[in-house]
Amino acid sequence: MRATVWAGRNSVEVQSVSDPKILNDRDAIVRVTSTAICGSDLHIYDGYIPTVKHGDILGHEFMGEVVEVGKAVGNLAVGDRVVVPFPISCGACSACDRDLYSLCENSNPNAGIAEKLMGHSPAGLFGYSHMLGGFAGGQAEYARVPFADIGPLKIEDDLTDDQALFLSDILPTGYMGAEMCGITPEDVVAVWGAGPVGLFAAVSARLLGASQVIVIDRVPYRLELAERLGATPLNFADTSVLGELQEMTAGRGPDHCIDAVGMEARNGSTVVDVYDRVKQAVRMETERPHALREAAMSCRNGGTISIVGVYGGMMDKFPIGAVMNRSLTIKAGQCHVQRYMRPLLQRIRNGEIDPTAIISHHLPLDQAPQGYEIFKHKRDNCTKVVLNP
Ligand SMILES: NC(=O)c1ccc[n+]([C@@H]2O[C@H](COP(=O)([O-])OP(=O)(O)OC[C@H]3O[C@@H](n4cnc5c(N)ncnc54)[C@H](O)[C@@H]3O)[C@@H](O)[C@H]2O)c1
Ligand SMILES: [Zn+2]
Ligand SMILES: [Zn+2]
Repeated sequence: MRATVWAGRNSVEVQSVSDPKILNDRDAIVRVTSTAICGSDLHIYDGYIPTVKHGDILGHEFMGEVVEVGKAVGNLAVGDRVVVPFPISCGACSACDRDLYSLCENSNPNAGIAEKLMGHSPAGLFGYSHMLGGFAGGQAEYARVPFADIGPLKIEDDLTDDQALFLSDILPTGYMGAEMCGITPEDVVAVWGAGPVGLFAAVSARLLGASQVIVIDRVPYRLELAERLGATPLNFADTSVLGELQEMTAGRGPDHCIDAVGMEARNGSTVVDVYDRVKQAVRMETERPHALREAAMSCRNGGTISIVGVYGGMMDKFPIGAVMNRSLTIKAGQCHVQRYMRPLLQRIRNGEIDPTAIISHHLPLDQAPQGYEIFKHKRDNCTKVVLNP
């Protein structure tokens, strides 16, 4: 089959590789019909996720048709159309029991590596480094789906791939980012990042009752899309984010701040920003946490910082004094996708959310390298690339 593989920093290739096989009774094989490139893939592309190797098959957002099932997969049949959540989860461990699917205790065969870096291991993920399981990803013609009796959600034929695909990740992730804020009416929510995750976080914050949602980025076409989706845009290239947010909130700051940027934030030219760039470039710091610092400094006293942007390891110069002295609550996580797929499918059906609004590009799988380039460099007004194998 053809598959998108990592070929070193800033390089992916579509290569011919062996077809996946059923290895376990709970596996299924899916023929991928749609798969997307995520901001998380860019962290790999840019070389910031440890333990990714040359030839690893990328991709964790995919859907398609079931072509083979293991003996223990009673809920799926060949021919079913499914969307696959990006965390690989057993459905039966103590984390899965508590709906914390991205923390499944049984799905990361390389947990020891993750434990060294993070203390404990989260779940295995599709196409996301050896530290997180070394599983082949879904930017390919076929994918092996472990625990297929638990993860994949069946999609009826009246919904298109474009409507359902983002249930695999970015729609639940944006929603969880907003849900973690515990929004009450009158709340003002600020979202850093107008990429797909930030946009879905903004839409979700409105659905959950926020009176105003402010989206911060510096890419004009993305801010325009945020505005069309009901948010107030704030361009950080033109202004001081802290000052503007205070102005908009009677000096108090937003009630909740969502970081949908993660470890590769663009920043200013203050001393601490230059320090991050240098330390990250020589791999002495994994993060460039400009947006997260700004979120912590801007948030109103007693507010929430919700982190869905991905971080890899260790961060310097975080204003823990602001968090402690001003009673801020930090919530974070890789999305527990399985928890949100059904309710969000219902919201798509009801017309409350239109996931297709953020798609800018459809490309054949063989053009994945171009897809990574335009998404990374925000060319051609790119907001989200869907690959069709
Ligand atoms: N928690 C999860 O489960 C999960 C799932 C999917 C993606 N993610 C993460 O969410 C983040 C966003 O993903 P995406 O697909 O939207 O990616 P993206 O790269 O398209 O979007 C990031 C946006 O942040 C903007 N940005 C950069 N620096 C900024 C700053 N200082 N302030 C404000 N905005 C800034 C960029 O211009 C860009 O538009 C990534 O870190 C990704 O890894 C997390
Ligand atoms: Zn993703
Ligand atoms: Zn589990």
